Amino acid sequence: MIYYFSGTGNSKWVAENIAKNTGEQTLNIADYINKKDISINISAGEVIGIVFPVYAWSVPEFLMDFIKNINIEEGAFSFAVCTCGDEAGLSMKKLSKEIKLNCAYSIVMPNNYIIGYDVDTEEEIAKKIYRGKQKIEIISNKVRERKDEWDVSIGSNAFLKSNLVSFLFNKFAKNTKPFSVDDTCISCGLCEKICPTDNITLIDGKPVWGSKCVMCLACINRCPQKAIQYGSSTRNRGRYYFIEKQGELK
Ligand SMILES: Cc1cc2nc3c(=O)[nH]c(=O)nc-3n(C[C@H](O)[C@H](O)[C@H](O)COP(=O)(O)O)c2cc1C
Repeated sequence: MIYYFSGTGNSKWVAENIAKNTGEQTLNIADYINKKDISINISAGEVIGIVFPVYAWSVPEFLMDFIKNINIEEGAFSFAVCTCGDEAGLSMKKLSKEIKLNCAYSIVMPNNYIIGYDVDTEEEIAKKIYRGKQKIEIISNKVRERKDEWDVSIGSNAFLKSNLVSFLFNKFAKNTKPFSVDDTCISCGLCEKICPTDNITLIDGKPVWGSKCVMCLACINRCPQKAIQYGSSTRNRGRYYFIEKQGELK
């Protein structure tokens, strides 16, 4: 079984392709968020995979909560894959403190953190998806062969980023107040429909954010009108969500 979380589709694509190549099934971790009494047991001979996006050089907080419900028995095979725009930091090290991992991988995928940076260029997006596809094949083979491996691109100043910056992100940056919607909103309701934590409600045809936001940025990136903003920084930035066709190199 491969459990995944994805805001803008990168990690979903990775999870689904590894599942296809290895004969596993996928389950969306979003369906477990805010649920109580979850208990997942992975028996000897079974495989468990966890695929997730890196947030602030670390593991998203809700994912850390989710994995506490998983028990992996001796003889089971476990792996994790994180997707990141650039660097994974010590996210896998942190994850492996909570859960036994035979394999850990990072895949560099297009950046969706448009609050901090602009989107990658079309060319960068194409290259990242193309290389991502190759890495999915490699990971799938290792999982099929039950090989232990650790291939994570940590990046620079990882200790500082994955501890101090991650702490500050979780404390201060997961704030929905700066979300706003422009007059160009056509009340299509896509943001409400795709929010993985069911945190958006349309009131008088406009999105209103509740208290369960995990900052996946699906809403702002997917809005067909680019009508959703976060503070003033996103107005002149692009939007990103995964479309496989973008990975076709020209
Ligand atoms: C809140 C947030 C924080 C992020 N932090 C990082 C980071 O520290 N390092 C990085 O390389 N990418 C970072 N990213 C980019 C995502 O990890 C990357 O685009 C990922 O592939 C998105 O996966 P998804 O499409 O499955 O949601 C961040 C994205 C978000 C939304």
